[in-house]
Amino acid sequence: MMNRSIVPLLCSFLLLAASSASAFNITKILGQYPDYSTFNELLSKSGLATEINHRGTITLLAIPNGAIGDLTSKSEDVLKRVLSTHVVLDYYDPMKLKSMKDKTAKMTNMYQQSGKAAYDQGFLNCTAKDGSFVFGSAVKGAERDSKLDKSVMNQPYNISILSLSQPIVTPGLDGTLAPVSAPPPKANSPASAPPPAEEEEAESPEEEAESPSEEETEAPSPSEDADSPAPSPDADAPPADAQSPPTPSPSSAGKLKASLGLFVVLASMVATY
Ligand SMILES: *[C@@H]1O[C@H](CO)[C@@H](O)[C@H](O)[C@H]1NC(C)=O
Ligand SMILES: *[C@@H]1O[C@H](CO)[C@@H](O)[C@H](O)[C@H]1NC(C)=O
Ligand SMILES: *[C@@H]1O[C@H](CO)[C@@H](O)[C@H](O)[C@H]1NC(C)=O
Repeated sequence: MMNRSIVPLLCSFLLLAASSASAFNITKILGQYPDYSTFNELLSKSGLATEINHRGTITLLAIPNGAIGDLTSKSEDVLKRVLSTHVVLDYYDPMKLKSMKDKTAKMTNMYQQSGKAAYDQGFLNCTAKDGSFVFGSAVKGAERDSKLDKSVMNQPYNISILSLSQPIVTPGLDGTLAPVSAPPPKANSPASAPPPAEEEEAESPEEEAESPSEEETEAPSPSEDADSPAPSPDADAPPADAQSPPTPSPSSAGKLKASLGLFVVLASMVATY
């Protein structure tokens, strides 16, 4: 009899423990900065906000409303991929950036965790330049001209929001995303049109990643959308830990421990009945 009444109690305790696993509410935090309202909406729309909230250490590379460009017109799928490259799985504030060894750093972004990242799509390159910092995809040949404009907020060493001048363009995620302020130099160049054959075998983003000319292509390449049922594990994309210091999620670990502790306590309560 007693056991039956304890079990639901136990369950609700565990649910409570699990649901409180969110470290912070990025929607709420970013909501305090009207300049980023569009970016904030997109984070929610893509479902990325929830994923961000489940991490304890994050740097968000936010884009102000005025520079959001055509991000708003992306399909949800592409949007999520692009936005996830704007989430760095480590804490970086301007002070930490200034102390970068060799004035450059390779950062792991959240797309790396999707299991779909090929080559260096799951990484960003941040380099000191002209007294500021430029961010870009670490993919070979990618443009690196998203400039750090300012720090929006930070809460060491859990969350930092940095404001970039324009969205980061990661080759192969979306062939149509062009930098907002960039002139369209190659738009008319026939050389930049990809051979049609490549679109067929676009399942491997290799071609796109390796050939800089394809970044310019206007063709809404369905490459990534041609989702192979089994996301091929790409041997070339190094695991996150290999490239950057591992970013353990101490908070999740701690909460897990807490949950387990709670479970043990409750279980022993049950046992004593
Ligand atoms: C996060 O904050 C937003 C805006 O304040 C709110 O609508 C949402 O319910 C919050 N989410 C969680 C998980 O608390
Ligand atoms: C980042 O890119 C620059 C060139 O733009 C390069 O010099 C630097 O070594 C790269 N940094 C890393 C960590 O890959
Ligand atoms: C902030 O990060 C520290 C470790 O870096 C972690 O122990 C703590 O739980 C985090 N806080 C939140 C609110 O996630």
